Amino acid sequence: MIVVRTVADLREALRDRRTAPVGLVPTMGALHEGHATLLRAARRDNATVVMSIFVNPTQFNEQSDLAAYPRSEEADLALAEAEGVDVVFAPDAAEVYPQGFATTVSVTGAIAETLEGAERGRAHFDGVATVVTKLLLGALPDHAYFGAKDAQQVAVIRRLVADLGIPVTLMVCPTSRDDDGLARSSRNTRLSPEERARALAIPRALQEVTDAAATGITDPEALRARAMATLEASGIRPEYVALVDPATFAPVPVVEGVVLVAIAARVGATRLIDNTVIGGA
Ligand code: PAF
Repeated sequence: MIVVRTVADLREALRDRRTAPVGLVPTMGALHEGHATLLRAARRDNATVVMSIFVNPTQFNEQSDLAAYPRSEEADLALAEAEGVDVVFAPDAAEVYPQGFATTVSVTGAIAETLEGAERGRAHFDGVATVVTKLLLGALPDHAYFGAKDAQQVAVIRRLVADLGIPVTLMVCPTSRDDDGLARSSRNTRLSPEERARALAIPRALQEVTDAAATGITDPEALRARAMATLEASGIRPEYVALVDPATFAPVPVVEGVVLVAIAARVGATRLIDNTVIGGA
């Protein structure tokens, strides 16, 4: 495994490897089992696996969140090596955003402006879209791997890849969960044991909606109310519980076909997101 810090070195490392598929797993480090799942999928599908580590400042809407974001490069490199990564691209901010940087990739419409876009502000998905575009153009992978937990991020990236004609296939891996059902996230390390126990109301609420929808309830408000009750019973007041079209992120007037149920909530000071897909089977 080699570690490169510049796009020039990344391209040089990949120059002779392009005759067989290259997979890219973009990360912000603080790797956990969820990232390992993406790396294993990439290892299975590709001759060369590239993983990027870059805590992208432009996608953080709160300076405190950026400052508190866990950084653990040594442990991340050990995990990458163990999962068979070939090349780690770990640039610094000046490499990604050199002096004079003045370009933003901005996806417009409900996909980027509702839910996470509304709660975290316009700049969040602009930051994600810009850095992912740069990572894709830097590595020019055949496949790029993302987790389904960040469903809206995936929809934004899908849109920009299609609109800009970037030649990559997006591979979306199922949300990785701990045994108790909590979606794995680098932010989970910030939960106290009491907060972690309360956070389990989030996957429980999603399951509640899934079960209620399976009984034939099609009114999104009725399903939302079930989730709200489960969250509130654990003292969680969510930022949103939304039932949306997974492609457009427009709210659904009635639950039929495939619907994405998405929740964002703060548990203590930690902001968590999770989602599930119902219907369409
Ligand atoms: O999902 C993440 O970790 C980040 O948003 C990504 C895709 C690496 C871009 O910074």
